[in-house]
Amino acid sequence: MNTAQFIPKILSEKIAKASFTWQTPSNIALVKYWGKSNPQIPKNASISFTLNNCHTITRIDFSRKERTTEVAFDLFFEGKEKEEFKPKIADFFKRVQEYCPYIFDYKMTINSENSFPHSSGIASSASGLSAIAMCLMSLEQELNSDLTQEFVNKKASFLARLGSGSASRSIEGPLVVWGNHPEIEGSSDLFGIQFPYKVHSVFENYQDAILLVDKGEKQVSSTIGHNLMHNHPYAENRFQQANENLSKMSKILQEGNLKDFISLVESEALTLHAMMLTSNPYFILMKPNTLEIINKIWEFRASKNSNICFTLDAGANVHVLYPANEKETVNEFIENELANYCQKKQYIYDSVGFGAKKHNTK
Ligand code: PMV
Repeated sequence: MNTAQFIPKILSEKIAKASFTWQTPSNIALVKYWGKSNPQIPKNASISFTLNNCHTITRIDFSRKERTTEVAFDLFFEGKEKEEFKPKIADFFKRVQEYCPYIFDYKMTINSENSFPHSSGIASSASGLSAIAMCLMSLEQELNSDLTQEFVNKKASFLARLGSGSASRSIEGPLVVWGNHPEIEGSSDLFGIQFPYKVHSVFENYQDAILLVDKGEKQVSSTIGHNLMHNHPYAENRFQQANENLSKMSKILQEGNLKDFISLVESEALTLHAMMLTSNPYFILMKPNTLEIINKIWEFRASKNSNICFTLDAGANVHVLYPANEKETVNEFIENELANYCQKKQYIYDSVGFGAKKHNTK
């Protein structure tokens, strides 16, 4: 695999100070990634909707210093210094140092905040790590003005992937494929790419309401979950099925068949959780209210002839997906019925978005 393209060759030494601010979104997979090999290479290709409202805003102030062998950074989350978040970020810098050698030349001050409530069960690693990756790439662009935006996005996705696989899908939008797939032109295990074919208009402004069923810390982290796919009895079949499902999803997205979309998306969500139920050791991330909500969605769909469906991440929260023209009726259903199954009746309305946005740094 051609990772050499991401090692910078000539860099200017003239930048003494620089600050960049990026807003990058979360994403929700339609065909799921679950299982990987080193270094963060997915066992199957996946595709996600990029979200719009759930995002992280990160500002990094870089100031040049004597080059050392340690990466020097301070980390503030929502205005407060966060020592407990530092090991994960330090680990990320270790993984990207070969591709971003300039991080040893700067002291970095990272200021980050999320648009969604902290520990809401919404994974912040995708938006958080992609925002840091974009800030690093803005610095790299200052150090080498020859870089094209296309390369910057590609490398940002490559770097974000090294932090958290799904973060590679948070740079662009509205649909991103990550993982090499014979039918998706340009797809790669190394970085996410925008879905390269024309998408049917029914998916424009697609809605995603995130129902916060359980805001507690997950009992089993994604890292452990991915690792349990190594000796999993159904792993090989699952990886093959996911790649086949991506072929089906590609066709569905181009042709706009919502009935097929619904059955594929829900099957993917339940299959992801089936992998958890059949791991050794087994574990369950769904909660009773996750199942209550799924049943309510099925009832509503049948009785109202709706195109509502659900998907799940590695957690108990439910993502409710529906076309923009059903917004009014589905939102009413969420407010009147589904909210009762959420912790403190909390949910977040989101919709499909277009990826990373640069802010003017004040
Ligand atoms: O990016 P990670 O390592 O946190 O894995 C996330 C995997 C799922 O969210 C469960 C599925 C996916 O494709 O996003």
